[in-house]
Amino acid sequence: MQTAPWWQTAVLYQVYPRSFQDANGDGVGDLQGILARLDSLVELGVDALWLSPIYPSPMADFGYDVANYCDVDPLFGSLADFDTLLEAAHARGLRLVLDLVPNHTSSQHPWFVASRSSRRDPHRDWYLWHDPAPGGGPPNNWTSHFGGSAWTLDQSTGQYYLHSFLPEQPDLNWRNPEVRAAIYSAMRFWLERGTAAGGRGVDGFRVDVLWLLIKDALFRDNPANPAWDGALLPLYTADRPEVHAIVGEMRSLLEEYGDRVLIGEIYLPLRNLMAYYGFDPASQSLRGAHLPFNFHLIHTPWQAEAIAQLVMTYEALLPPGAWPNWVLGNHDQHRLATRLGPYQIRTAAMLLLTLRGTPTLYYGDELGMPDGHLTPEQQRDPAGLRQPGAGRDAERTPMLWDGSPHAGFSPVEPWLPVHPEYPQTNANAQAMAPRSVLSLYRQLLRLRRAHPALHCGSVTTVSAQSGVLGYQRHQGEDHLQIYLNLTEELQSVTSPRGTILLTTILDGAGGAVEGTLYLEPGEGLLIQLG
Ligand code: GLC
Repeated sequence: MQTAPWWQTAVLYQVYPRSFQDANGDGVGDLQGILARLDSLVELGVDALWLSPIYPSPMADFGYDVANYCDVDPLFGSLADFDTLLEAAHARGLRLVLDLVPNHTSSQHPWFVASRSSRRDPHRDWYLWHDPAPGGGPPNNWTSHFGGSAWTLDQSTGQYYLHSFLPEQPDLNWRNPEVRAAIYSAMRFWLERGTAAGGRGVDGFRVDVLWLLIKDALFRDNPANPAWDGALLPLYTADRPEVHAIVGEMRSLLEEYGDRVLIGEIYLPLRNLMAYYGFDPASQSLRGAHLPFNFHLIHTPWQAEAIAQLVMTYEALLPPGAWPNWVLGNHDQHRLATRLGPYQIRTAAMLLLTLRGTPTLYYGDELGMPDGHLTPEQQRDPAGLRQPGAGRDAERTPMLWDGSPHAGFSPVEPWLPVHPEYPQTNANAQAMAPRSVLSLYRQLLRLRRAHPALHCGSVTTVSAQSGVLGYQRHQGEDHLQIYLNLTEELQSVTSPRGTILLTTILDGAGGAVEGTLYLEPGEGLLIQLG
């Protein structure tokens, strides 16, 4: 029997390196800090880490503005620290996935410095330069995701350059083969296993804003969005058909190295998202991303009918052979505990870890850690400084390790404030509390690993009744039923015969069930059928 690739049975865990563990006492997390915490991730029971960018960067967007794709920022450590971390992770059976930021570089990247130096510079065409509009001003109406025009005038050469995010993040021109080759060679730098010339051996990439890489060649204006006054539809700046050829090239490159994973950050409706699997009908094979991130649980109302519908639609739309995945949080979204409240974080944990497909967990969510509290002076995120309300600092506050000052994250005042709940909500305290959110995650992760129905089985019988989401998972002799009460009231369901393996309130495993079953507000049940 062919075994599934590791990234299908794995649970991914996202680390935001600035906020995970500070080992050198400067208030910012670093690679040695992550190294020191690897054992706690093994105890938690995850299989792979994805690190947000660690490359040299002026940090205008906290690392999503890369100034060198083949090194480590001194703030986080050195390449030697990275090699040590990777080796230690692999020694523990953990995989390590890096963030790749190919849509834009830092404005301080030597490529852009050269590009803006003169219209005749060989790097000019590596970025998207355009003359001003006929009457002056930006070439078209494209807007930055962080507010304002996506164009900035370079006074000395008299042209505008495109930046989908900050002016400090100029967009690369992905129609230029030299740009592709340069990014692909950076990918090889990290994928190559130890050779005389270096080489590291990472297990894959999460590709930043994959669906934005290609823009309209004619630079046409985006049309008005009829559903939202004053907004534009990103028709010419997102999800362009030519992007799929690039995804295919990245996939082929990764395949040269064996079992590495290509994950894409893609915020699109389900139908468009499916195209990023790159199903080729002629060869009946998948040529795109292994895991085009599915963020739909983040935006779907937390309600049994809506989620049942989402699960069924997503499953039905998957191309042949495509493997599903689910995400509940990341460094760009308000935290799960803040979005859903204390009861529903438990059903969310059970949902994420019992659905079919690879789950991605965001650091701190395993504690039920809520958004941080920030005064206006403590805000750091450029997105929030440019557009009040759009800041992402609240979901990036330091990991809460223990009850000591600064929550064990750092010996000094951290770059973002530690959540005031840390004396109660921290990993140490929760590890010792048998009914904590952390204990729930650990048990779910243990069961997920132990049960083939959970890590590779089918999903059937998706239902929604009186606010309770239900589904079954099956593999061989292993048959499971899940019920999740997504309401704040007591509910009942009619269950097939079985034995309770786990309740999210961590009370009452081992009991036999058949017929009417009551679920507390926010309670979830995992039942072994038969
Ligand atoms: C992605 C990242 C986000 C970043 C943006 C620009 O959406 O997740 O944090 O600001 O891309 O790189």
